[in-house]
Amino acid sequence: MAVDLLLGLQWGDEGKGKIVDVLTSNYNIIARFQGGPNAGHTLVFNGKKHVLHTIPSGIFHDDATNLVGNGVVIDPVIFKGELDKLEEQNIDYRKSLLISRKAHIILPTHRLLDAASEASKGKAKIGSTLKGIGPTYMDKTGRNGIRIGDLELSDWKERYRNLADKHESMIAYYNVDIEYNLKELEEEFFKAIDVLKSLTFIDSEEYIYQAQKAEKSILAEGAQGSLLDIDFGTYPFVTSSNTTAAGACTGLGVAPNQIGEVFGIFKAYTTRVGSGPFPTELFDEDGKTMGRVGNEFGATTGRPRRCGWLDLVALKYACRVNGVTQLMMMKGDVLSGFKTLKVCTQYKYKGKTISHLPYNIEPENVEPIYTEFSGWNEDLTEMSDASELPKALNEYIDFLEKELEIPITIVSVGPDRKQTIFRQQFV
Ligand code: GDP
Ligand code: IMO
Ligand code: MG
Repeated sequence: MAVDLLLGLQWGDEGKGKIVDVLTSNYNIIARFQGGPNAGHTLVFNGKKHVLHTIPSGIFHDDATNLVGNGVVIDPVIFKGELDKLEEQNIDYRKSLLISRKAHIILPTHRLLDAASEASKGKAKIGSTLKGIGPTYMDKTGRNGIRIGDLELSDWKERYRNLADKHESMIAYYNVDIEYNLKELEEEFFKAIDVLKSLTFIDSEEYIYQAQKAEKSILAEGAQGSLLDIDFGTYPFVTSSNTTAAGACTGLGVAPNQIGEVFGIFKAYTTRVGSGPFPTELFDEDGKTMGRVGNEFGATTGRPRRCGWLDLVALKYACRVNGVTQLMMMKGDVLSGFKTLKVCTQYKYKGKTISHLPYNIEPENVEPIYTEFSGWNEDLTEMSDASELPKALNEYIDFLEKELEIPITIVSVGPDRKQTIFRQQFV
């Protein structure tokens, strides 16, 4: 059976966690394929909010297996925190949570290196979540990393020490003011490692192969968004993994010809947290309204998210790079009450009008060209059927479908599981 993918098409926080949770009832296995605790995936049901960072968003469903794939980087301390929260909710994760032996481990010194690197960059900082993501993936590609499977080897602590010592000398090299007590951090880290070791480690690519053979349905859950992809994002203001569809192949060991549906999630507007270019960013009342109504604060860091109009040039690019087959539009409810809505359809780039995402989208090179739409005043949050959606919203959706040439099959009208409208597929 083919593996379906679900991924973000913008700069992250599109609402991936919510939709994975909604779709989990259709799947046997939910598998995270990249990123780490830089992610914050929010789920809301039964009046309660849950935020997951590393654990797949299918964990609240009794009959789903949740796999942390080889492409993910795991911070044992944050992972343990997530497990503790699940325990408080009486979630029996022991039988449903599996971890790939090939996933890499974030060490306390990776986090310190992240902080040192950002501090040394000054104004040019990436705006990293400081979870040690960049340094851990650097050790992975540099062939120095420590993997989950290494925890089963007798000499892993020796390897840990060697790597942590090397990191300490690298921190000193940055020559920035970073205070830390490694002994304390290590105490917490090793305690969390013991908890991690009580979970089930597997050869996940073999597991997925056998699951496919046994006709199990699998949904691969992405983290971050396509514009944060290490290759296709707004480099260097990106994360350190492939957040796009290809990342699911390498992050789980699934061959490209085994991919089925590719669900692309986007907000009805755009947000970004951290540094980097954002052509449709708003600095006016409209942007503030989106931030306030949409409660646009990072689920991991609490930082306010920058807000702006929907950017179709960037969205088209993301759809192509991922081979998106179905779109899901989130947070349409946040746009209720705007008299006029704008969608960026082209850029003015170095004096010319262009329709593709160029190499450089810094403000000095790019100016968005907008198409305007009438807004709607209806509150969408109580709606449950596509027939209830206001005419102006349907016109907005029709325009996007026509431009993107992909059906929008879900419209989300609030954070809760129930606030999800399934539209008829038009293909
Ligand atoms: P993720 O990282 O893609 O899983 O997204 P986040 O959880 O970081 O951010 C999405 C935020 O929007 C969360 O606070 C969700 O609870 C919320 N959310 C998701 N869908 C909707 C929606 O349709 N409407 C509104 N108002 N909020 C939503
Ligand atoms: P989810 O999965 C939004 C951003 C950071 C920063 C840049 C690099 O919740 O959508 P990193 O910590 O990876 O070195 O940060 O990427 N970033 C995210 N922004 N959502 C995320 O994840 C993000 N993960 C990283 O803000 O700009
Ligand atoms: Mg998030």
